[in-house]
Amino acid sequence: MQTLSVSLGDRSYPILIGSNLLPQSNLYVPHIHSRQICIVTNNTVAPLYLEELKNKLADFYVDSVILPDGESHKNLETLNLIFTELLEKKHNRTTTLIALGGGVVGDMTGFAAACYQRGVNFIQIPTTLLSMVDSSVGGKTGVNHIMGKNMIGAFYQPQAVIADISLLKTLPAREISAGLAEVIKYGLISDYQFFVWLEQNIELLMAGDEAALSYAVLRSCENKAQVVTQDEREGGIRAILNLGHTFGHAIETAQGYGNWLHGEAVAAGMVMAADLSMRRGDISHSDFNRITNLLERSNLPTKAPQEMTPEQFIELMGVDKKVVDGRLRLVLLKSLGSAIITSDIDAGLLLETFAACR
Ligand SMILES: NC(=O)c1ccc[n+]([C@@H]2O[C@H](COP(=O)([O-])OP(=O)(O)OC[C@H]3O[C@@H](n4cnc5c(N)ncnc54)[C@H](O)[C@@H]3O)[C@@H](O)[C@H]2O)c1
Ligand SMILES: [Zn+2]
Repeated sequence: MQTLSVSLGDRSYPILIGSNLLPQSNLYVPHIHSRQICIVTNNTVAPLYLEELKNKLADFYVDSVILPDGESHKNLETLNLIFTELLEKKHNRTTTLIALGGGVVGDMTGFAAACYQRGVNFIQIPTTLLSMVDSSVGGKTGVNHIMGKNMIGAFYQPQAVIADISLLKTLPAREISAGLAEVIKYGLISDYQFFVWLEQNIELLMAGDEAALSYAVLRSCENKAQVVTQDEREGGIRAILNLGHTFGHAIETAQGYGNWLHGEAVAAGMVMAADLSMRRGDISHSDFNRITNLLERSNLPTKAPQEMTPEQFIELMGVDKKVVDGRLRLVLLKSLGSAIITSDIDAGLLLETFAACR
């Protein structure tokens, strides 16, 4: 097992990464400072892992809430199910919430923890690759509003994150690929050596090799933690984590949420960012090919949907929340392994990218 510390002063916390961690309750019990626990999970993950976790916490008073699965339930109404359970079972301010699930469960449980009695402890047990490498690191929690994704939320850090790689055995291959898009993102924005390692190991990762997955999760979390500790509340540099996301959100919106997985849209979006970076002369054609090859080997899309027109992209990207002062701001590549945030974007080159990437 490897432990990584996210350094945020008195809000610092460890991320434990390795195989078969769930059965080893001695690893996570020290992070629970209460007699009461409420496990929050969903109806897909509960039949797989809830009983096992409960059995490991036999010394505590354990309640659980099973939420309906899916991004469409990530809202205030579902959040209320958590509050109702906590109140009905008389959980007090010293209780601990445990998120057992992917990013949807993690974001909702974290936000519930931030709000319940003005803040209680919580622990993340992420069960998807995406939640291990992305959503469980950095303290963004929240729910969707009908008028916008993740619009209601809080920055709130957990006491610990337990990333048990063995839980990924049951995760569908398509979800593994979607998580790999964010993993590859870290290589592109800040870690060339990791990008090279991914080129050499992508098939092992796709095959579910736990040693390779553990290393990829560790290295991803290290990269994200490094950015987050510099800029916890996204005042500046943290925005580089959005490589491919402005293009990707346009694709997600055009396709309707749920048709493309987030990671799939981000993959196509990163290709678009790479294409524009190439047109600006910052990366070479062979760099661009390395990026698309790695994404293709991860079974990820490398083009936007054929039917999406440049006009549609412009319209959809114009309303993106990362637009500052009405100007489009994009994360682009300066080289393989380093990113820049810029609003100095040539509209002609951008149109060429839209035309080339579908
Ligand atoms: N807070 C952040 O910083 C942050 C960052 C990135 C993404 N997010 C959020 O994360 C969410 C996406 O997370 P996700 O990709 O994990 O999706 P998800 O939570 O919807 O999980 C994907 C699917 O896999 C199922 N599942 C989870 N673990 C499983 C397992 N071990 N075996 C079998 N099935 C399993 C889930 O029930 C679900 O059907 C989005 O809501 C996004 O906004 C948040
Ligand atoms: Zn993302």
